[in-house]
Amino acid sequence: MVLGNCCHLLLGFFLVSFVSESFRLHIHAEASPSLECLQFAKSSACLCVKYLPVWFYFFTGLGYADVENRVMCKPETIMRIASISKCLTMMAVAKLWEEGKLDLDAPVQKYVPEFPEKVYEGEKVTITTRLLVSHLSGIRHYEKDIAKVKEEKEKANRALKLTKSGQDKEQKEKDGKGIEKTDSGKPRKEHEGEVKNQNSKPGRRDKEFEHEEYYLKEKFESVIESLKIFKNDPLFFKPGSQFLYSTYGFTLLSAVVERVSGQKFTDYMLKMFRDLDMLSTVLDDNEAMIYNRARCYVYNKKGRLVNAPYVDNSYKWAGGGFLSSVGDLLKFGNALLYSYQAGQFRNNNRKLLPGYLKPDTVAMMWTPVPKTEVSWDRDGKYAMAWAVVEKKQQYGFCRRQRHYASHTGGAVGASSVLLILPEELDSDAEDTAEVAPPRGVIVSIICNMQSVSLNSTALKIAREFDKEKQAQYID
Ligand SMILES: *[C@@H]1O[C@H](CO)[C@@H](O)[C@H](O)[C@H]1NC(C)=O
Repeated sequence: MVLGNCCHLLLGFFLVSFVSESFRLHIHAEASPSLECLQFAKSSACLCVKYLPVWFYFFTGLGYADVENRVMCKPETIMRIASISKCLTMMAVAKLWEEGKLDLDAPVQKYVPEFPEKVYEGEKVTITTRLLVSHLSGIRHYEKDIAKVKEEKEKANRALKLTKSGQDKEQKEKDGKGIEKTDSGKPRKEHEGEVKNQNSKPGRRDKEFEHEEYYLKEKFESVIESLKIFKNDPLFFKPGSQFLYSTYGFTLLSAVVERVSGQKFTDYMLKMFRDLDMLSTVLDDNEAMIYNRARCYVYNKKGRLVNAPYVDNSYKWAGGGFLSSVGDLLKFGNALLYSYQAGQFRNNNRKLLPGYLKPDTVAMMWTPVPKTEVSWDRDGKYAMAWAVVEKKQQYGFCRRQRHYASHTGGAVGASSVLLILPEELDSDAEDTAEVAPPRGVIVSIICNMQSVSLNSTALKIAREFDKEKQAQYID
């Protein structure tokens, strides 16, 4: 079951167009999606669903924003959104591109001469902004050791092949665990054994969280300054030839945004948030007084709940340094979905305002890019700071894959997901003036707990709401 694993996570936040005390999802009578199957029970999820245009309720949060002081989560609770920051940064990149200020295919040094010209295997190579946003630049992630990264990638590919060749899923999980135990120098077994629920996230060791750079405590005054962490390190491959998810790639991207916009990256972003009416979206600044900011938690090696270690995320504003609320992420999703769909309604409804971005810009952002991979969605490809699953149906009356975009996030003491499932518009719908974008389902879940896997939950919720909506149309 979806969230069964999370049953003993106490924190987090849950926000929506529905909710209930019994932790079962009741919905407004007119539109009660049959969500009984989604037992969010005591989960740490902070969830937001919008499934009708301009119509959503915020009810309540779920779990604790601050465990020690017994402060419950509220819809306004602000948490680390981790890598969903990449989607926000992409919005700024897309806007600057649309305005003709940013050339996605120019070498990044055109804007950021501080970033050294790169060489791969003796050959001069070019990194462009387009490669950065799809993680194809070859710039490293937290791991500096090329050999280790290659090894892990191969392992992941092998595992993928296993699944694809129709191997029994359970067997795969066993294999996966076996690998984990043997390949790291440290014994993992002890951590796993101590967790009550075998599959539960608490105590789960996430490789990413073992990298030292995840725990940087240094405060960087500017994005240019933070380039020093990685700018002189060798590329892992020839730009454009392979995929390597890299948050540092986004740090370089923030420098590009800064130069192109002529404003400090952080100032430019905050202005954009104001335009988007996302007033709860701010920098993860440790000193600032941020009302409704949740504390961050993690399970320690013994499976006990502890406060997450102090970190300073100023080295990765663009790739994982923003705080937000579920409501703000919904607004963000709506602005994007509106932008995407506005074009399809424009002809029939001339009163429609333009979207923040042009429809074609969002379509470009959501077009899967060759050679990319997505760790959190087996059906997806990475596009431009979004994972995208394309619409697909092979056989009549058989499995239908819907088109949707998503991003997940994992930070010190936090996990997140944002998913946008656009409605498939038929030509009839477009003809009626009262039907307006955005149309679809948007799910945002943020939680102040490390290593909670939220991808499947988000998808399941989106599908339930979508089903319900389809049913309404038939009536
Ligand atoms: C969610 O992500 C995990 C790994 O992060 C993956 O194993 C799983 O297949 C994903 N779920 C879906 C529905 O793609």
